[in-house]
Amino acid sequence: MAQENKKTDIEADFLQLARTALSGRTQDVQVVLRRAAKRYQPLVPQFAEALTMLLHELPSPASPLRRQAEVPLPVDLDSRLHLMRVEPEPALDHEPVFATDLEASLRQIVGERRNPQALARAGLDPTRAALFLGPPGVGKTMAARWVARELKRPLLILDLAAVMSSLLGRTGSNLRHVLEYAKTIDCVLLLDELDAIAKRRDDRGEIGELKRLVTVLIQQIDDWPTSGVLLGATNHPDLLDPAIWRRFELHVEFPLPDRDGIERFIAGTLAPYFPATKEWSAVLAVAFAGRSFSDVERDLSAARRSAALSNTPLEEQLAGILAHKSLSRARRIELAASLVDQGMLSQRKARELTGVARDTIRSHTAPRVTKTHRKNGRDRP
Ligand SMILES: Nc1ncnc2c1ncn2[C@@H]1O[C@H](COP(=O)(O)OP(=O)(O)OP(=O)(O)O)[C@@H](O)[C@H]1O
Ligand SMILES: [Mg+2]
Repeated sequence: MAQENKKTDIEADFLQLARTALSGRTQDVQVVLRRAAKRYQPLVPQFAEALTMLLHELPSPASPLRRQAEVPLPVDLDSRLHLMRVEPEPALDHEPVFATDLEASLRQIVGERRNPQALARAGLDPTRAALFLGPPGVGKTMAARWVARELKRPLLILDLAAVMSSLLGRTGSNLRHVLEYAKTIDCVLLLDELDAIAKRRDDRGEIGELKRLVTVLIQQIDDWPTSGVLLGATNHPDLLDPAIWRRFELHVEFPLPDRDGIERFIAGTLAPYFPATKEWSAVLAVAFAGRSFSDVERDLSAARRSAALSNTPLEEQLAGILAHKSLSRARRIELAASLVDQGMLSQRKARELTGVARDTIRSHTAPRVTKTHRKNGRDRP
């Protein structure tokens, strides 16, 4: 009988939670969950503890989101999904690696907000809207999170590719709702995948709708308050409407990482798990030339997973990256030769790791410097 009662209690609680959550009443959801954590403590203590932890991670009463966002989050009426991702206290799971110029631009955005008085004295406003441009996986979204974290502001992310719902007609009002909401908060708003608006322009039937959408966006950017930080990100700046492009006062280029950047990124990623990080980072950085951070991250994670599953040293899996089938033979030869040329590996070690024969490596490396040259001081020290 008691068992039966418990079951009905659980069902009732679950239904109440579902009802509150589906109607978008976030604060009420928290009340229901807090009550449940207390109620279930004697019955399932671990569950109650996990729930309490989750509640702690939510915005505290002092955080700007709780304080300011009494307006409920905008929801797409069709999908009932939240249109925006909200990160009340943005956190990064690792520190970003930024090229020098890029870091300077980002620090400028943050610096202007930290010291608005200095700008005001000179009769200037801080940069209101900045556009992040660059190929996929080089840290545009991550940089927005970094800016928000540095400014201790909530980050709101509106993914325009997702918002462009199949019912295009709704996108304009959705967009307006989101921006109206964001304006009421001292936040960093990221309009991610901004080119999504432009990409569908070829679709003849939708040109009218898209024009209206661009107009909404332009109006909203114009109305954006100086107190907020508006960021846009795109992989295809060429597709952006020039009028939108112009409205972003600052254009920040995110290039593909250079070798030093990749090396620093690999070193940071592997350091906690691996003693020989320094040597491997240098060697792998050569192999990953021309790739994005997220490509590198994906391959390193795959190597770590394989090492954990097969209980083999990580070194073996990393070597697998150098000899990987997906690398063409020409690329492997180039890689082996370059590692030898740069004095990172001996020919023997390069053969071992890349599977390229020593003779082949030798024929592709720069000619060895003769003793006579060395005497003449033409060799490197
Ligand atoms: N500069 C960087 N420093 C460190 N890690 C990075 C950097 N850039 C990307 N990463 C890693 O790659 C992942 C993807 O990066 P991010 O989502 O910021 O790329 P993006 O430029 O926004 O790509 P997309 O154009 O596809 O949205 C990040 O979560 C991070 O782990
Ligand atoms: Mg992104």
